[in-house]
Amino acid sequence: MSGPLRLGVNIDHVATIRNARGGDHPDPVRAARAAAEAGADGITAHLREDRRHITDDDIARLLGEIDLPLNLEMAATAEMLVIALAHRPHAACIVPEKREERTTEGGLDAAGQFAALEPIAGQLRDAGIRVSLFIEPDERQLGAAIRLGAPVVEFHTGRYAHADDPSADLRRVQEAAALAVKNGIEPHAGHGLTLDNVAPIAAIPQLAELNIGHFLIGEAIFTGLEATVRRMRALIDAARDPAPSPASGRGLG
Ligand code: PXP
Repeated sequence: MSGPLRLGVNIDHVATIRNARGGDHPDPVRAARAAAEAGADGITAHLREDRRHITDDDIARLLGEIDLPLNLEMAATAEMLVIALAHRPHAACIVPEKREERTTEGGLDAAGQFAALEPIAGQLRDAGIRVSLFIEPDERQLGAAIRLGAPVVEFHTGRYAHADDPSADLRRVQEAAALAVKNGIEPHAGHGLTLDNVAPIAAIPQLAELNIGHFLIGEAIFTGLEATVRRMRALIDAARDPAPSPASGRGLG
């Protein structure tokens, strides 16, 4: 049996819908409140360089109005470093960012960008912010995270989520999570997770947190955000601690 798995709800795309018309509806802070009510353990928001969804004001309000820990996703730039140091969120997850991409398409090249990442990770750490690196589940990137002294890595599950046969990609996440823990790093995972594909990832015993956004916000159109987060929470909890089957004899005696 493994420990509980935290659910971080990414509310970026509430802001995407708001920004399509300007104004202040729907409000991502209200969405964060609903996610908290439904059992989320944290809120995740990505302040992009182009501010296409979350804005600086959203970050200030999330920190001021929501009691859950905020995981600020940020590119490794001087501008984002200044913002993170000013706000001091619970955690900062360093992600790769390209203006032309629609979403974060792949993990950070922590190995290739080691020299640029080192001072940024160091300043975040010195400010008491928990540093996480959003990387592919592979040994080389994990090795760089270890050398950077990151206490957390988040494995990009996009390849798993989009594969026709996800078994090899699931194995990569399983092996990387085990290796991370062996090296004293807390592994998280996220990207592309849905009600249909979350269970095998949630069952990986070493994972401590999943961050899920796009699917939850999209599904909320049909079933409401609180109900959707509750369904995700229940699936995650069930995958972590499956109910004993009558044949197994667990719980008897
Ligand atoms: N974790 C990180 C670091 C992300 O950048 C994102 C968004 O791309 C997510 C988790 C959530 O991914 P999704 O919106 O596909 O659930």
